[in-house]
Amino acid sequence: MADKRPDSMKRITGRELADAFIAEQVEAIKAQVGDKKVLLALSGGVDSSVVAALLVKAIGQQLISVHVNHGLLRKGEPEQVIKVFQEEMKANLIYVDATDRFLGLLEGVTEPETKRHIIGEEFIKVFAEEAAKLDGISFLAQGTIYPDILESEKGIKAHHNVGGLPPELDFELVEPLKYLYKDEVRVVGSALGLPDNMVYRQPFPGPGLGVRCPGAITRDRLEAVRESDAILREEFANAGLAGKVWQYFTVVPDFKSTGIKDGERAFEWPVIIRAVNTTDAMTATIERIPYDLLDKIESRIVTEVKGVNRVLYDITPKPTGTIEYE
Ligand code: XMP
Repeated sequence: MADKRPDSMKRITGRELADAFIAEQVEAIKAQVGDKKVLLALSGGVDSSVVAALLVKAIGQQLISVHVNHGLLRKGEPEQVIKVFQEEMKANLIYVDATDRFLGLLEGVTEPETKRHIIGEEFIKVFAEEAAKLDGISFLAQGTIYPDILESEKGIKAHHNVGGLPPELDFELVEPLKYLYKDEVRVVGSALGLPDNMVYRQPFPGPGLGVRCPGAITRDRLEAVRESDAILREEFANAGLAGKVWQYFTVVPDFKSTGIKDGERAFEWPVIIRAVNTTDAMTATIERIPYDLLDKIESRIVTEVKGVNRVLYDITPKPTGTIEYE
């Protein structure tokens, strides 16, 4: 194996070990980078957020983070990235709202794999364009973690953090988390002062809400996904389920059914609730959401989300259903 976690490395389980790791990495990053500049694509996910916080601690303004909003993020996500990194950590952050670009390219595209390709390719393009505007970048930081390396080596997953970058982004890599497992990344993130809802958040796919808006994405249906997801997350948090259930989200399929709103016919979309538990995402079981909570979520969604008149609860484990719909 080319890139192996050192046998002597202790599993980082608590604050003391996290602080020691941070101190060691700060020195290693300073030694690698010197007075040069480092570029980072900051999605707001756990790994890139922890890398950003670590690099800000090590090299401050020499880190330039780029947060690309592809228009498929969850409610409040871009705002939180700006608040935590720009306002609180005073990091050098470039925010790019590329919503119109992505949604324009995705218009009328129904095939799931084509949608994923468009989103992935456009993301690299937008990021490379931002990089080209900057002078004197010498390094590219990435949130590669140990499972990414292991899975790439086994041929399970061609991870975006391992190879595959276009020549204009071919900088020397800075990958301070590459020997860490996910649970260790979270402990380190907390020790760096990142908020719990950033460090302990549920998995969220790169193509974002795009895969939860099956078929051709429209702005109004995407908004229904975003708003219903926000309600579900809020109610799960209020009920103490947020840290307990592995993944939970809503999907708005591309069909309408007849309903009644304010005494009138309402021909609108349904919202599907998905809540699953798993250890490796290869198989998953259903979270049995308490009925009273389901009632409350249903009532809020049909009242607050525009264009929605029904709420459905997906009780399909994986297999046969995958966790996401696309
Ligand atoms: P499925 O739908 O295959 O999903 O049962 C398994 C897990 O993988 C997540 N997922 C992704 N994560 N990029 C990611 O980073 C992606 O393109 C992607 N697609 C699915 C999914 O949310 C679930 O946790």
